[in-house]
Amino acid sequence: MKITIFGTGYVGLVTGACLADVGHHVLCMDVDQGKIDKLKNGHIPIYEPGLESIVKHTVEAGRLAFTTDTKDAVAHGVLQFIAVGTPPDEDGSADLQYVTAVARAIGQYMDEYKVVVDKSTVPVGTGDRVKAAVRSELDKRGLELEFDVVSNPEFLKEGAAITDFMKPDRIIVGTDSERAKEVLHEVYYPFNRSHDRMIFMDIRSAELTKYAANSMLATKISFMNEIANLAERLGADIENVRRGIGSDPRIGYHFIYPGCGYGGSCFPKDVQALTRTARDCDYDSRLLNAVEAVNNAQKHVLFDKISHYFNGNLKGKVVGIWGLAFKPNTDDMREASSRALMQDLWNAGASVQAFDPEAMEETQRIFGDQPGLTLCGTKEQALKGADVLAICTEWKEFRSPDFAAIAATIKEPVVFDGRNLYEPDMLERHGMIYYAIGRGRNQFHGG
Ligand SMILES: NC(=O)c1ccc[n+]([C@@H]2O[C@H](COP(=O)([O-])OP(=O)(O)OC[C@H]3O[C@@H](n4cnc5c(N)ncnc54)[C@H](O)[C@@H]3O)[C@@H](O)[C@H]2O)c1
Repeated sequence: MKITIFGTGYVGLVTGACLADVGHHVLCMDVDQGKIDKLKNGHIPIYEPGLESIVKHTVEAGRLAFTTDTKDAVAHGVLQFIAVGTPPDEDGSADLQYVTAVARAIGQYMDEYKVVVDKSTVPVGTGDRVKAAVRSELDKRGLELEFDVVSNPEFLKEGAAITDFMKPDRIIVGTDSERAKEVLHEVYYPFNRSHDRMIFMDIRSAELTKYAANSMLATKISFMNEIANLAERLGADIENVRRGIGSDPRIGYHFIYPGCGYGGSCFPKDVQALTRTARDCDYDSRLLNAVEAVNNAQKHVLFDKISHYFNGNLKGKVVGIWGLAFKPNTDDMREASSRALMQDLWNAGASVQAFDPEAMEETQRIFGDQPGLTLCGTKEQALKGADVLAICTEWKEFRSPDFAAIAATIKEPVVFDGRNLYEPDMLERHGMIYYAIGRGRNQFHGG
């Protein structure tokens, strides 16, 4: 099938590449000329395992192409996927300007039946707005062309996006049109062979499903962080508690890892946007407000521990940081906990020596020549001359480091671990002091 994707970010590019991989003919459109130039020259603008090789071979096979030309993009596909960003507006609601711009462009240029598929995460009711935007452009042109609008939220995880897209747990399709349903069924057929993963529903329910899924996951994390904070104060070890409750199949092991807060482009903004949606319909979402508040506070716990260790005097101290991306296997720094920690350290007069396996360029782009920040080429370099070590991202290469070398390099043998990567005994054996999240009485806690 011929498919157009608007937006070549994490979702758009992965969607385009995977749909081309199974045989569809895909044209990806983006307004960012720099991104499209890179893609045309064979460079992938983001780090996502496995993406580069799929893009390369589908481009070579002639099934994937890139453009900045809106008219060509609209002409290409019977399916028009919208995968542009929906960042938070000033009041926390989702900013729909990019989604509506695409919808208008489709109405301006279409000259035959189209299925407009909303893949961006959008508030309930956006399907109607997209429909109205397309319709109003068609009206301006005096045309009465048929089109359908579908909500098809995306559930891929950065870092595992290709596998998630190729083997989805579910494919949610919200539509009120039988014709669109058939088209979507055909598009996703190759991903459905072992069993049918498609769940059809009305548009509003599909839109809400995406927010509900992310809010549920964020809730699990904030809940666990709250219990971890309690464990610290009560002399319990959250890692034991985690195993103890995860073994209950009603709870499960997924997403109950305590840490220094969730980040990324989705959870923070989606929880905020749903809270805002609730307010707009006069509902006070007390649980979601708490999930967000707990997370915002959690992003400062590592700093509180470091500050406590140095008796509140961090002037001139150097903190080595391992991990800057909001999670492993991505270079995405949006809302990353490392940003809150670095900002707190700079405010307190400390400086930072940081290393991340993939997010160095992104950190440089965001913080530029920020005084107090040294970007290091290896994790070992980040330790040289540092007073202590802090860990913000659970990259594999941090999981089993040379503890003796760490102890011999940093000035004070102290590790502040925001991801609970190690067993406290291991570090003690090397004469080190270990502060993690929610692990017993020896932990400093804020406040
Ligand atoms: N990143 C994720 O893990 C993830 C997962 C599921 C859902 N989502 C949702 O998918 C959507 C996209 O997220 P993302 O992370 O891919 O965003 P992104 O910021 O990485 O990419 C968005 C792209 O859209 C482009 N764009 C903006 N206006 C455009 C226009 N008028 N025409 C064409 N392109 C345009 C931008 O230049 C950018 O390249 C968001 O709503 C997000 O919440 C993201």
